[in-house]
Amino acid sequence: MTLIDVHLTPDYVARALREDVRAGLSATPKWLPPKWFYDARGSELFEEITRLPEYYPTRAEREILRARAGEIAAITKAHTLVELGSGSSEKTRLLLDGLRDRGTLTSFVPLDVSESALREASDAINVDYPTIDVRGVVGDFTAHLDKLPGEPPRIVAFLGGTIGNLIPAEREAFYTSIRDVLEAGEWLLLGTDLVKDPATLVAAYDDAAGVTAEFNKNVLRVINRQLGADFDVDAFEHVAIWDADNEWIEMHLRATRAMQVLIPEIHLEVTFDEGEELSTEISAKFHRSGVEAELDKAGFTPAAWWTDSEARFALSLWQAV
Ligand code: SAH
Ligand code: TRP
Repeated sequence: MTLIDVHLTPDYVARALREDVRAGLSATPKWLPPKWFYDARGSELFEEITRLPEYYPTRAEREILRARAGEIAAITKAHTLVELGSGSSEKTRLLLDGLRDRGTLTSFVPLDVSESALREASDAINVDYPTIDVRGVVGDFTAHLDKLPGEPPRIVAFLGGTIGNLIPAEREAFYTSIRDVLEAGEWLLLGTDLVKDPATLVAAYDDAAGVTAEFNKNVLRVINRQLGADFDVDAFEHVAIWDADNEWIEMHLRATRAMQVLIPEIHLEVTFDEGEELSTEISAKFHRSGVEAELDKAGFTPAAWWTDSEARFALSLWQAV
């Protein structure tokens, strides 16, 4: 069994979920924050997304990691690999291999809000990498970065394009908070999906098999279960659109009929008009110049920028100044 630090106690989660649901569903237009997608079923659905023919980011990022893990190990000589939003840590094994083979790595610290995904991944890596000390953290990467164990120099990996799920103001705060927990000379490895033709982008977030639709609706199931709400999940449809001005994919849930939803645990009754949309997630897409400007502002200097063979996705390495 792997050592896991739990910073998201059931109490904390219950309070945060209540606050978020109250704030988001009382607002116009309505919204919900994306971290609540990831209960055990949400994490499983996301893994299914990563295997869809339309969802290219996982394959593209894996291609880059496979080609560059050795270089990353040679440049950073990291002793600790921290992974934020680690999920299954499946691609991360390429990095673990590179760092282990280089002989510098002593510990791996995956952090995720999804306790089930974190435990499963940590236990498997613990077994498969007997020389590496695995210490999982159940936490929120927007709140618990000060709680990261591990011996320097550390490399913090943030893969999967998850950075795109933060709005620009959150992104800035997030980069700054990572810079704050690092010593000068430590590393950030960042996966960013790149701007490309809208048809490819939309298909990646609206697949033919409907897995992404199920994933999006899962947030309503979480609220039903945790807060006793009575969302008729099937009365919502999944919508993914490309916002060309903001250069992000926007995910919504659209009410297919007018309805009232009762959320007893927070004494809230919510009314939906027919066709009303609840926004659940953005997934921003990037250009190299934009990523560089934001990281420079947060106190990082560029060390490398790599893309896959089709230039769909970028993996970049940054050093804390
Ligand atoms: N890194 C994996 C998973 C990406 S999906 C990959 O590249 O495939 C995003 C992951 O971030 C999920 O595992 C989700 O549970 C986690 N996550 C989302 N919001 C989070 C938050 N605020 N704090 C910590 N983890 C979060
Ligand atoms: N980090 C992933 C991404 O932006 C998360 C994701 C993939 C996602 N598909 C989704 C989030 C569908 C919500 C809905 O690519």
